[in-house]
Amino acid sequence: MKELLTPLKIMENMVDKLQQSYPKHEKKAEGIIQFHLKHNNENIDCYIQSDFERLTFRKGIANNPTVTVKSTFYNWLNLAGGRLNPVVGVMLRKLRFNGKTSFFDVLPKKSFTEDLNIPKDPASKFEKNPSKYWIKPKKVVVLSSSPRGENGYTDFYLNSFIKGMEKDSEVELVHLKKYIIKPCTGCFSCWMIHPGECIYHKTDDFNALAEKLFTADLIVYAFPIYADGMPGILKNYFDRSVSRAYPYMIDGIYKVRHPRRYKHENQSMVIFSICGFFEMKNFEPVHYYFKALSHNRHIPVIAEIYRTTAVGMYGNPFAYKQLNEIIDGLEKAGDEIVNHGKIKQKTYKIIHQKFYRSKRDLNQINEWWNEKKGSKDINY
Ligand SMILES: Cc1cc2nc3c(=O)[nH]c(=O)nc-3n(C[C@H](O)[C@H](O)[C@H](O)COP(=O)(O)O)c2cc1C
Repeated sequence: MKELLTPLKIMENMVDKLQQSYPKHEKKAEGIIQFHLKHNNENIDCYIQSDFERLTFRKGIANNPTVTVKSTFYNWLNLAGGRLNPVVGVMLRKLRFNGKTSFFDVLPKKSFTEDLNIPKDPASKFEKNPSKYWIKPKKVVVLSSSPRGENGYTDFYLNSFIKGMEKDSEVELVHLKKYIIKPCTGCFSCWMIHPGECIYHKTDDFNALAEKLFTADLIVYAFPIYADGMPGILKNYFDRSVSRAYPYMIDGIYKVRHPRRYKHENQSMVIFSICGFFEMKNFEPVHYYFKALSHNRHIPVIAEIYRTTAVGMYGNPFAYKQLNEIIDGLEKAGDEIVNHGKIKQKTYKIIHQKFYRSKRDLNQINEWWNEKKGSKDINY
């Protein structure tokens, strides 16, 4: 189990880090910086000894230090991290120095990351405004992620959307349940040992699936809501595809993100989800999940199709008219997506129309569950 590092260990780590830059540092000198730091009513005495070769961290009190610092441990960390100006620190009595303060120049101040060759991957015009720079997708891949595959309601609703897209684009429907995607173990081998390669790359189907998805112009992620999120098989795919990014962190559009190892400019995604409950609120968790995922993957979400009451409407005589409108609306949405990179508000209104439930509807659903008790009908 990991334990909180002690202030002495933090000081030692800090000196190790400074030592990495010391050989190239111009202001090397011989001497000692003595620290008398207070933390949680404890005195921490330690010092940094420097010569022309290296900086060495030592515990205790040195003879004839060149300069001495007295402060709390946190004030010293703020000074070292550039969060506390030394003059202000002295004036506010947060820091006390004795001796030759110019000797602090012996500590390299240059950022350790300046020389790193971080891949640049700035946001493209397309990512910021996909419908403005829309190009009709040549290849659409629909990842149907219901663990029930083609027998589920996800595919029932999805089929109309695909029909609409197929009029003007090549669409491939892929069922995630047919692929074995092992869960990520968090070992970071894909970043530290074999960059871009997961430990499972040779023993499961991740690579084959990723190849399809990473080369598509448009990806449709279709899935039912499971426990207020997405089914685990889809989350496993997303976790594993972290291997396709660099570990580095760069500034993104609204937050920090990773540069991509594999780039497909002008790639976009559609979220297509269905659920059993009645309210659009049930899609809020996945809406926010995909907002973050799309930013981190540099792939804009161009449409979000959410169908509530997906099971309850099917076969329900009182919802039959609505269901037909929705099915037609989904086909229209598919056509709009490939041709314009967005769905018209009018079409959204049709596919997202509310199923007004009465008390009777809840009773009917509950009756259905009672009837199904003991049933082995997995294709309900
Ligand atoms: C394990 C499980 C968890 C579910 N969790 C939710 C949920 O949190 N909210 C919801 O509205 N529906 C939930 N549902 C209902 C499914 O979204 C709904 O049955 C959907 O039609 C399943 O898709 P499929 O027919 O393609 O398998 C859940 C279903 C299962 C099997």
